[in-house]
Amino acid sequence: MITNTELEYKGNLYPNNILECKREGDKLSFTTENGVILEITVLRDSVLRFRYATENIFEPDFSYAISEDASTGYNELEVEETPTEFLIITAKLKILVDKQTLRTQISDLEGNIINEDELGFHWEENYEYGGNTVKMSKITQSSESFYGLGDKATHSNLKGKRVTNWAMDQYAFAKDQDPLYKAIPFYVGLHNNKAYGVFFDNSFGTTFDFAHERRNITSFWADGGEMNYYFFYGPKITNVVKAYTDLTGKPELPPLWVLGFHQSKWSYFPESRVMEIANKFRDLKIPCDAIYLDIDYMEGFRCFTWNKNYFPEPKKMVKELSDKGFKTVAIIDPGIKVDKDYWVYQEGMENDYFCKRGDGPYMRGKVWPGECNFPDFTNPDVREWWAGLYKELIADIGIKGVWNDMNEPAVMEVPTKTFPLDVRHDYDGNPCSHRKAHNVYGTQMARATYEGVKKFTYPKRPFVITRSAFSGAQRYTSTWTGDNVATWEHLWIANVQVQRMCMSGMSFVGSDIGGFAEQPNGELFARWIQMGVFHPFCRVHSSGDHGDQEPWSFDNEVTDIVRKFIELRYQLLPYLYTMYWKYCKEGTPMIQSLVYFDQEDHQTHFRTDEFIFGEQILVCPVQEPNAQGRRMYIPKGKWYNFWTDEMVLGGKEKWVVADIDKVPLFIKEGALIPKYPVQQYVGELVVKELILDVYFKKGIEDSTVYEDGQDGFDYKKGRYSVRNFKLRGKDDQLIIQQFKDGTFITSYDTIKLKFHGLPFQIKSIQVDNETVSFEDVKLNGSNSIVLSKEFTVLELTGI
Ligand code: NOJ
Repeated sequence: MITNTELEYKGNLYPNNILECKREGDKLSFTTENGVILEITVLRDSVLRFRYATENIFEPDFSYAISEDASTGYNELEVEETPTEFLIITAKLKILVDKQTLRTQISDLEGNIINEDELGFHWEENYEYGGNTVKMSKITQSSESFYGLGDKATHSNLKGKRVTNWAMDQYAFAKDQDPLYKAIPFYVGLHNNKAYGVFFDNSFGTTFDFAHERRNITSFWADGGEMNYYFFYGPKITNVVKAYTDLTGKPELPPLWVLGFHQSKWSYFPESRVMEIANKFRDLKIPCDAIYLDIDYMEGFRCFTWNKNYFPEPKKMVKELSDKGFKTVAIIDPGIKVDKDYWVYQEGMENDYFCKRGDGPYMRGKVWPGECNFPDFTNPDVREWWAGLYKELIADIGIKGVWNDMNEPAVMEVPTKTFPLDVRHDYDGNPCSHRKAHNVYGTQMARATYEGVKKFTYPKRPFVITRSAFSGAQRYTSTWTGDNVATWEHLWIANVQVQRMCMSGMSFVGSDIGGFAEQPNGELFARWIQMGVFHPFCRVHSSGDHGDQEPWSFDNEVTDIVRKFIELRYQLLPYLYTMYWKYCKEGTPMIQSLVYFDQEDHQTHFRTDEFIFGEQILVCPVQEPNAQGRRMYIPKGKWYNFWTDEMVLGGKEKWVVADIDKVPLFIKEGALIPKYPVQQYVGELVVKELILDVYFKKGIEDSTVYEDGQDGFDYKKGRYSVRNFKLRGKDDQLIIQQFKDGTFITSYDTIKLKFHGLPFQIKSIQVDNETVSFEDVKLNGSNSIVLSKEFTVLELTGI
């Protein structure tokens, strides 16, 4: 155990005794005798920032991760002093700062310890690069579990694991391989039914050790920069994830078509092949909203050019696709081919926009086009230029979304797979080396892309997808999990990764359905689709080095299954859109891991497979071949089997039948699930009636349906429609109240309520407190009725 007098221990340096404590508004700073300053900022009653300086000096306070719109404001902030410690009290937390060691301990107001330093902040001077390796160690509480950390392809509960954040191009990555494409230094800790979160806002390579090296110690460190972390208190995981998402930013609504089904491949070309794929979707009546153009649409892989042999008239093709209801999404990579005759290269050189090495030469590296230079996206002028480059692609040709790839950044034929560390970056006026800028490079590229796509798509909404991401990327872009493999294990990995990303504030995520590398068989493809349609982003993508991977590439049975599940996704579009809206508004993850759904139930703490799609649909993908069903854990509560309407009681494991044409799917009792008719693409049909599948409950349950113009920004001016429903069920009565908000007028006039599990035969119906005849509401047995969309209260009484 270290004491305050031992300032150096195993090469690490430690703060010693506090000489001074100062308060300036919401900031408290504690300065130690040996020049460490701890600054604690109270952002909200349950959101704190801890920042440590050594040598009495803080770095300029700059972060790419923190959103300008983050909420601040607290109800209480008191500071007390005892002979041994300072005590900070907010309306939710008590923070002790030890006067001898600067260690902190955070507890709730009842005195339960939520998080406490072990050695606390310590550091090692970095002789090679200057600055420090900054470290933090904390005591792992009894039975503590850990979640989050972005795209790690490992068990959802990180207890006992060590993970590193250093964005990497990892073709055909394996289970437990680390690091991967993303760097999201945020985790959730859960013990004694209390959750908290830590976001280490440091863009250098960071490592988190969750009781891996030492059984009872959780630690994290960075290769440079400051020990600068945010602490979020729950006690529910939902409070933590929402607070983190609020701090690092929420996205805007995407256009609804983005929530449809997308088909991609490396690559569809020439034009005739693209059209063939599009036509096949329509012929086979498999809904699809977007087709992707991978790198072969370009001239020699030069970004912002077209290969005129393959695509002689891109604008015409994009228009033809659009006439058939397809949006075209095109890939753009960061590497710009070194070619003196290429306009993008010329502009980059003329304006000095490319990254340079430490001693001045340009950063050159090989990617698809051969030798490339790379824009420094951490320079605001470069981002503005990059945004402008999209003019032709978007405004003239009509591309509707942009896919940013290889932006870790990936460099071929070098062992590190990325830039050398001496490459210089502007970092928005805080010049630094690649050690600091590496993890944010991809996000700053996606941000520039988002600005450009938004500008030229306006008044429609932009769509961007990126492979690499740092915390905060969700403000600009969606993402996918990178180059996975067509194996059953990868189906498991994709499931965990998507849940983990949702827990890490970045919900708009999906995997390459069917696997990117290698060839899935029909069964694997069908099972993957059955999971993929319940992921926020739903795209089939595959590398071109094997057979086809379209819904019809297997046998007719598979095609039919794929169609059936894509159709289900299209029916659920209003549900999915409402999920997205809640994500934008509240930071609610679009998918909830079971531990998020019910943290009190210890059975959920180590579950990986089951997840909640939105807030009311339980999904458990089948992850093995030849299965006719599977064992799964049904969380507490009552659930309806989607396929049979059979009611099951949760809180236990169960065998659930799911032949190849089914996936275990359950609806929470009391839910009202909104549906649209099947369309071949968003906007094909004018929705004439909203379906609400009503799952009876004895008790109360709330449900919401959000709708708007499905594109454009009018929703920001109040032109949206929110329907909040309150269901109350009794043995012989069902009451559904509707509360509406917003000025958007939906295309339909009526709502069809379809009843599931109604325990009585309907005897009388009251709408808005007046008895109506059965014919008036088109009563169909105890199955359904049709009401005006304006109804405020429906009361069914039964025998
Ligand atoms: C790597 C990406 O991860 C993959 O999705 C893409 O198809 C290839 N690059 C080619 O652009």
